[in-house]
Amino acid sequence: MTEIDKNLTLEQQIALQISASGPISVATYMGLCLTHPTRGYYRVREPIGGKGDFITAPEISQMFGELIGFWLVNLWQQMNEPKAFTLLELGPGRGTLMADILRTACRAPGFRDALRLTLFETSPGLMAEQQARLEAYDPKWLQNFDNFEDGPVMVVANEFFDALPIRQFIRKEKGWHERQVGLLDGKRTFGLSPTPIPPGSMPDDVADAAPDSVFEVNFAAAEIMSILAKIVSRQGGSILAIDYGYGRTQTGETLQGVRNHAYADVLDAPGETDLSAHVDFAALANVARRAGLAAQPLATQGEFLARLGLAERASTLIKANPALAADIATARDRLVNPEQMGTLFKVFCAHSPGLIPAGFSA
Ligand SMILES: C[S@@+](CC[C@H](N)C(=O)[O-])C[C@H]1O[C@@H](n2cnc3c(N)ncnc32)[C@H](O)[C@@H]1O
Repeated sequence: MTEIDKNLTLEQQIALQISASGPISVATYMGLCLTHPTRGYYRVREPIGGKGDFITAPEISQMFGELIGFWLVNLWQQMNEPKAFTLLELGPGRGTLMADILRTACRAPGFRDALRLTLFETSPGLMAEQQARLEAYDPKWLQNFDNFEDGPVMVVANEFFDALPIRQFIRKEKGWHERQVGLLDGKRTFGLSPTPIPPGSMPDDVADAAPDSVFEVNFAAAEIMSILAKIVSRQGGSILAIDYGYGRTQTGETLQGVRNHAYADVLDAPGETDLSAHVDFAALANVARRAGLAAQPLATQGEFLARLGLAERASTLIKANPALAADIATARDRLVNPEQMGTLFKVFCAHSPGLIPAGFSA
């Protein structure tokens, strides 16, 4: 980046890039908007919470992280309580989920001593919050996934994969064309690559899609899953990912913009709008299986939390804090009700063969 570029807004930088080299892919646009080194959404905005743009499950209730804490202890015990293991969280946000996990899990004798807490985060502001909340557990931040110490690796990711850049393709008469972001009269606008991608490049599930169907593919998510699945396959462990998404590779446009707790135009206010897309968990499961892991059938968040004992945990909390009974019940319902987060959000788990993760069967 030149000195002049640094002073330009993200909007101006994107316009400059398109004017100089032509339209950019949706993935390039999304990547610039979210993680541009100085003007990207996760660099400049405070995304999560009442003052931010959206609320996530761990911010709704401590019960979410507590149940995942028990879930992790159960797997650690199934692995014969290894004396050293890595717990890696991808996109830990404000550190709330991990704080709730560890407050619970570290009650299991030996868990705290064996724990090597590792975080993967792009936002300097959120890293500072993670440091403040998790300092007692001596966290380390990874720049990449090149070096893992020996021992099992357990990965947790809540609403991380949906924040990675997707590419979009649209079915037209002559085949699938990549969707691009270009400029029309100086305004950002969607268009299509002039030539279709080579025939046969699309997965079988969508090969016969109707005209104008949209297909989204998240190569960044698949790459991270592939790297981590190979590590878990070699060292033992598990990968738990919770996100909105689907369990069968399919067509449909899911890219969305959110600003100040309301939907916003994807092309509007780059760097100030959260962009995300539903996760193709079938694709991630295939990647994990190819690396040698077993993958559980997808559970809804509602099913998963109910099986882990959300109702019982809520009752215990209500008994201990009767004045907060209504708030606790509301939070419980938000997490599991089908009209709220219960069905939209899915829980994915890939793991070493032989382990039996809780929450995936009744
Ligand atoms: C939607 S927030 C979810 C935060 C947290 N897991 C929660 O549930 O509250 C996405 C998180 O992923 C991080 N993130 C997004 N893109 C990333 C990337 N490319 N590399 C590392 N972290 C990223 C964000 O900074 C943020 O911490």
